[in-house]
Amino acid sequence: MKLSDPRILAALPELGVERIGGTSLAERTSLGIGGITDLLLIRRHSALPDLIVLLRGASVAYKFLGGGTNLLVRDGELPWVVLQLAHQEPDMRLEGNYAHVDAAADLGRTVTFCAKNDLGGMEGLIGVPGTVGGALRMNAGAYGMQIGSYVRRVELYRAAEARIETLRQNHISFEYRHTSFAPDDIMLAVKLELPSKPYREILQGIRVCNEKRRSSQPLNQKSAGCIFKNPPGGSAGRMIDELGLKGFSVGDARVSDRHANFFVNVGRATSADMLSLIAQIHERVHAAYGVELENEVILWTE
Ligand code: EPU
Repeated sequence: MKLSDPRILAALPELGVERIGGTSLAERTSLGIGGITDLLLIRRHSALPDLIVLLRGASVAYKFLGGGTNLLVRDGELPWVVLQLAHQEPDMRLEGNYAHVDAAADLGRTVTFCAKNDLGGMEGLIGVPGTVGGALRMNAGAYGMQIGSYVRRVELYRAAEARIETLRQNHISFEYRHTSFAPDDIMLAVKLELPSKPYREILQGIRVCNEKRRSSQPLNQKSAGCIFKNPPGGSAGRMIDELGLKGFSVGDARVSDRHANFFVNVGRATSADMLSLIAQIHERVHAAYGVELENEVILWTE
């Protein structure tokens, strides 16, 4: 969607919002799939409520993009604009065992920055691509840990109240790849409390996780990480693998040969290819195991 409302266009510079017209989401998502729209880069968190009032007032649909690493976007001219927090330094600071981190900060950099300052706990998240905001929203986790365990406070734009609020940990629930945030809430910053640990020890944990990930996941291919959540007590990857579906493809969308819950774009996969692959694998698992797999990947395909 190309923004054309003169009132909105005139207000953007005052709000410190940069418009990048004709942005391809294929270039901003780890799957490398997605159409074209205007991207609005937000430099000041405080501008968000006014920006959203303006967009709503003019009936301009919008979506909020984090790191684009767990996302499948439709092709063509997109019917909404995309908002994103601009990444700005410094994006993290420490205060004793607390880390104050901007939602736009890279998750991996956050883990290593904390590690170098003898703060551990998040070793499992090394190698998970994306932003801290995206990790919060999904309660990202791996190798027995999840980010939610370390969250003490979250600053966010609450869509229902149309204002910026701070939520304490006891007002947020973090479950397996699920949180109590509303779908249209926008994460802005987080305060984490991390256990003290010597850097050497944390580094050892990071190396082990990196090695496990490298040996079991297709890290050098375009993917959105795991497509499905694991069903209670089971493994979606193992079930898809047991059905002999590694390598199964629709166009250039393909079940990874390395990890069957990763679907990779091996060339010019379209959104429809990837959606069809997801639907077919879902159906095959349901037919064989009677299990309804739930998507972990977020779909912007309507
Ligand atoms: N397995 C297979 N074939 C496969 C994939 C896995 O047989 O193609 C088997 C493995 O051998 C293992 C079991 O299934 O016995 C579990 O596999 P793995 O350890 O790779 O973990 P997973 O359950 O498939 C989860 C998370 C990953 C996270 C890893 C490591 C989900 C949906 N996935 O994968 O997270 O990195 O554990 O902790 O919870 C993500 O969320 O995007 C993601 C990649």
